Amino acid sequence: MHAQLEELRGRALAELDGVVTEEALQAFRVKYLGKKGELTAVMKGVGSLPPEERPRLGQVVNSIRDLLDERLEAAQIEIRNRVTAERLQSERLDVSLPGRQYPRGTKHPVTLVIEEVSEIFAGLGFQVAEGPEVELDYYNFEALNFPKDHPARDMQDTFFVENNLLLRTHTSPVQIRTMLKHAPPVRVIAPGTVYRCDSDATHSPMFHQIEGFMVDKRITFADLKGILTIFVTQYFGKGIGVRLRPSFFPFTEPSAEVDIACVICKGKGCRVCKQSGWLEILGAGMVDPEVFRHVQYDPESVTGFAFGMGIERIAMLKYGISDMRLLFENDLRFLRQF
Ligand code: DAH
Repeated sequence: MHAQLEELRGRALAELDGVVTEEALQAFRVKYLGKKGELTAVMKGVGSLPPEERPRLGQVVNSIRDLLDERLEAAQIEIRNRVTAERLQSERLDVSLPGRQYPRGTKHPVTLVIEEVSEIFAGLGFQVAEGPEVELDYYNFEALNFPKDHPARDMQDTFFVENNLLLRTHTSPVQIRTMLKHAPPVRVIAPGTVYRCDSDATHSPMFHQIEGFMVDKRITFADLKGILTIFVTQYFGKGIGVRLRPSFFPFTEPSAEVDIACVICKGKGCRVCKQSGWLEILGAGMVDPEVFRHVQYDPESVTGFAFGMGIERIAMLKYGISDMRLLFENDLRFLRQF
């Protein structure tokens, strides 16, 4: 019996050396120390021995069990430590690695101009307003003092959707919509998309304008010139000459076209300014009393100025773009330059 126990002890210890997982450890425990385990079976056999041999053999069995318990526990700790270390290693995260780079777009030059111009006018107290691109004849023409059959309608190359409904040809209808909603004083700029049936190197059937207008008591033509001069100075730079030429728009009286000294040749004369030294950048004027009547403003108590500029034209001047169609071809080699 003694020899049997010695053999069991040696075999168990050797086997435990090869145990490297929790599952195998559990199986080992069942095999030797479980209810039907080998050592338990020997223990049960002790009862059938002569009484004088029982205590000594019992002691041996107990000491083997204690030894196995002890080694089992040590093996378990070792396995757990190893498993944890392996997990830490395999799930290791290097927080100092650089992040993934996503391609970053650039703003379209038209968007840039809208943002920059809006910013300048915001600094002068103007608020931004918007209106629909599919517009009623009434707001696009009628209320702006273009009566039916007025020849100035022809200048606008209108796309019609149906009778009385059209793609707005300018941002000026936002003047009407704003004044109908708000009593004076108003100080508003309205950037937006407009449409005209026209297409060449300097015209696109879809383009953008910024409308601006200011109505209050005692607004004069001098205010118009002052505001526009501040804008030109801030946007194109100090010392850029500004001049106003008489013009005609149905919704302003008097009306003017505003030129700045050519930003390319500084007024000397070049291809861009057609040797004139000047570039037209916008139309403007004092709001016609007829327009005020359409929005129930009293022309006896308020006056105002209005202006409208083409954004693509401003972008072409500011960034030296020679063909307007480049702006709408979505060629990344062009767009990435902004
Ligand atoms: N709406 C005009 C156009 O598209 C531009 C314009 C001229 C707007 C004079 C104005 C203005 O507000 O006063 O040709």
